[in-house]
This record gives sequence, C-alpha cells and structure tokens, in this order.
Amino acid sequence: MQTIHKTVLLAETVEALKLKAGMTVVDATLGGGGHSKLVVNKIGKSGKLIAFDQDQTAIARFKKQMKLGSLENLKTEILLVNQNFSTLKDSLTSLAINQVDAILADLGISSDQLADTDRGISFMGDAPLDMRMNMTAKLTAQEIVNEYSQAELTRVLREYGDEQYASSIARKIVEVRGQEKIGRTSQLVSIIESAVPGSYKRKKIHCATKTFQALRMETNQELESLRLFLFQAIEVLKPGGRLAIIAFHSGEDALIKNWFRENARGCICPPEFPQCRCDNKPIVKIITRKPIIASEAELEENPRARSAKLRVVEKV
Ligand SMILES: C[S@@+](CC[C@H](N)C(=O)[O-])C[C@H]1O[C@@H](n2cnc3c(N)ncnc32)[C@H](O)[C@@H]1O
Repeated sequence: MQTIHKTVLLAETVEALKLKAGMTVVDATLGGGGHSKLVVNKIGKSGKLIAFDQDQTAIARFKKQMKLGSLENLKTEILLVNQNFSTLKDSLTSLAINQVDAILADLGISSDQLADTDRGISFMGDAPLDMRMNMTAKLTAQEIVNEYSQAELTRVLREYGDEQYASSIARKIVEVRGQEKIGRTSQLVSIIESAVPGSYKRKKIHCATKTFQALRMETNQELESLRLFLFQAIEVLKPGGRLAIIAFHSGEDALIKNWFRENARGCICPPEFPQCRCDNKPIVKIITRKPIIASEAELEENPRARSAKLRVVEKV
C-alpha cells in the first residue's frame, strides 16, 4: 500500500510558496503526500497542514505513513480532509479555519490511481469502466459511455481529449452500445481501434490515450472543480499568501492562466474611457509570468513531468 507516485516539481512548488515555520498551509491534492511531506518539513512543529484528497485510499495511505513514519516526530498538526477541493472554504470553516498562509494543488491523477486495476483509468489491461477518483461519487465512465448522446460524447472527447477522431469514436460507441453494454476498458479500446485509421494506431501514443483522458476528466468533473476552487483559494488566503498550481492538461492550464490574468488586472474600463470608472482592483499578483516546467534532470527520472506547468500568484 506504499505510494508509487513520483512527485513532480517538488522543490519548485514548495519554494514558490515562501513557507516559514509556523505557517498554516493547504495541500489541495495530497496524493502520495510528496509535496505535503516537504511542506511539513518547512513549517515545522508549530505549523499546520490541511491536506485534501477526494480519494479515500490516498487519505488512508497517508494516515498509515503518519503512524509508521517520521512525520509524527515533527509534531506538525496535520488535518486530512477526504473531500473534493471544490469544498475548500466550507471544509476549512468546519475545521474552524478562516485563513491560510499558502495553498498548493497538483492536479489530475496519481500514479497510484492509474495503477489501480479496479478503477479502469488506464487503457492498459482490462478493468471495469469506472475512472472515479472518489469511489463514492455517482458518475462513472460507464454511465457516460452508455448514456451520453453522440453529440455529448463528441464534445467531451474534443474538449477534454483534443481527440481529432472524436466524432468517429463517438459514432462507433453509440453503434456498439446499441447491441451490448460497454462495461470494460478492453471493450472501449477495441471500439476506439475500430473507429480510427490505421495510421493513427501506429503513432507513438496509443490511440486510446486521448479518449481515456477525456472520459476521466468528465467522470471527475475536473475543470468544474478547478473553477470552483480558484475563487475560494484566493478568498481563504491571507494577503501576501501564495497559491501554486500544477496542471498537466492544456485546458486546465489555460483556465488557470486566464483566471490569474483576469484577476491580476486592475481597471477593466473600455480603452476609450479617459478615466477609470470601474474602480476594479486586482486581487492577485502574478509571480510566474511564464509557467515553471520540469528540468531535464527531472524529465529523465520522471517522464510524466513532461506536461507539467506550475503557475503561482500572490494574494494582494
Ligand atoms: C497528481 S496527484 C498529487 C500528488 C501529490 N502532490 C504527491 O506529490 O504525491 C493528484 C491527487 O489529487 C487528488 N485530486 C484530484 N482532483 C481532486 C479534487 N478536485 N479534489 C480533491 N482531490 C483531488 C487525486 O485523487 C490525487 O490523489
């Protein structure tokens, strides 16, 4: 039950938060606990860490590590919250915490979830088409594949997977499910293989990669959770506190980048106004004009870091 997840941009993320002893910090995506452990190291025994994960397994694994490992020796107060980070503000309120010094989020799934053969997040091997990070959530990939309309399926594959064969794959899914229920990852892989041209199947990345990614993002409502999280994160941060987010998906990164830009802008009056009338004030200052990406050394050790982009803002 040890984690197999390799933390991405570890030093860069924690450094960007400008942590000091005694700070109260939120890790919105505990996962294998890689970032959390370094945070605990920095904030020391007078600090407080609140770590969220919607996956009960990740929480249970970390709890076990805390009992067995060196973390307890540090005596940092660690509160584990088995909730979606879209509940950030309410969850903190229920812990009687109104403001925090720093927040980090390392989006997407962990290698532990990818390797969990019961979840069907990976197209390697055969598993039930589930894909939930939170195993108590209602929506599964099976429901999406068997119940969404062809148009909705096409949209999901385009929007979250950037899949060029979205419409042929969606058409084939609808055709096959008219004859039998699609319940296994291997069935879906065969459907994708029969819907795309041969040249696409000979590419370096597997032809099912983008469809699986898109279905996972829809199953877990990943962009929606992120949207809800961003406002709350800034609301609960103390002025001068930092928010660092790592995204792996271009849609997520674009959402973060645009959100940061919009909220770092002061006046939003039309350019033809001689004087500002909106009185709009920036709520964040952008710390990373360009995203921080993994070094060559990290990429060599962890190819998964290839698409990681770290962006940081400071609350004004
Ligand atoms: C990439 S992993 C984090 C890895 C971690 N930083 C580490 O170093 O081990 C992402 C984790 O965040 C969790 N997660 C993703 N989206 C979430 C959300 N909206 N709310 C709560 N947890 C989420 C996943 O269940 C997963 O365990």
